[in-house]
Amino acid sequence: MSKKYRVAVVGATGAVGHEMRAILAERRFPVSEILPLASERSAGIDLEFGDECVTCKELTRDSFAGVDLALFSAGAAISREYAPIARDAGCVVIDNSSAWRMDPAVPLVVPEVNPDDAEWHKGIIANPNCSTIQMVVALKPLHDEARIVRVVVSTYQAVSGTGAKAITELIRQSDEILEGTAPLIQVYPYQIAFNCLPQIDAFLPDGGTKEEQKMVDETKKIMGDDSIAVSATCVRVPVYNGHSESVNVQFERDLSPERARELLAAAPGVELRDDPANLLYPMPITATGTDPVYVGRIRRDSTIPHGLNLWVVADNVRKGAALNAVQIAELLAERDLIRVPR
Ligand code: A2P
Repeated sequence: MSKKYRVAVVGATGAVGHEMRAILAERRFPVSEILPLASERSAGIDLEFGDECVTCKELTRDSFAGVDLALFSAGAAISREYAPIARDAGCVVIDNSSAWRMDPAVPLVVPEVNPDDAEWHKGIIANPNCSTIQMVVALKPLHDEARIVRVVVSTYQAVSGTGAKAITELIRQSDEILEGTAPLIQVYPYQIAFNCLPQIDAFLPDGGTKEEQKMVDETKKIMGDDSIAVSATCVRVPVYNGHSESVNVQFERDLSPERARELLAAAPGVELRDDPANLLYPMPITATGTDPVYVGRIRRDSTIPHGLNLWVVADNVRKGAALNAVQIAELLAERDLIRVPR
């Protein structure tokens, strides 16, 4: 990679934006200039980029002139408005929000699963939902071997997925409760400290939530297989960072736990942590700050034909958001796709 790129990070002051800056620097993405963008409130503040200090600017309609690539992490409303503006200015957008994910003209990419979909981008590429990313990285090698018929997934999602304000709320509420005062509730409908919330995002008319529907729809789009049935229940838990998932899978053909372990041990982006005798299994505290999708607790579910149970954990801010976005950027750079097709 000899070419260098002018790269904007939209939402550079947020939890994911912070990690995007860190990962771009850490993985030495070929950046000629970094442009951190956020709201008016953050204009003028200094932000780290590797060893450098760069000044954050306000996001405006003129922010993208001469910019080659923009990583967006400022929420769906900002992405809906500004991603087309960036694209029309000739800047390729990798968008971490839900705004463009299900648009048939926008590829939804997890580099370990469907890298070739990046080839047909028209200026905007979507980064999937955090819970979907870690699940499909673990499921793809198993699907290729034995074809998945149905997945039942229950998630245990960390507060970092809601952003910096939710991490602060969990810390503050924990202090308040331990001090014997009533917790102040600002981010979620109920207290999150010492609690679990069986609601992530808004409810839909069928009783599911938008987060659950994202896992259903995005899994089919990324795996390129509409026949995979997905039933999801998404739960917010009082964990700072690192999403966990209990995944029950029914395959078309038999797949033994031993063969599944063999496939996962060789799969890109996966780290197998499955040794119950030595109490070895994945946990959010071990995934945090690292890149892999960890898989463990692999065992047969003998109550269904060709069933397996898995436990899947990843750092939702890294692999579930910022790292996956930077891996898409690397994929585009490798294939010389950082240009908006005319
Ligand atoms: P700011 O810090 O200036 O509010 P998180 O998901 O961690 O809450 O982060 C959200 C990110 O989106 C932050 O960087 C935030 O910037 C940014 N953001 C929020 N509203 C806007 C806006 N109107 N224009 C640009 N960036 C925004």
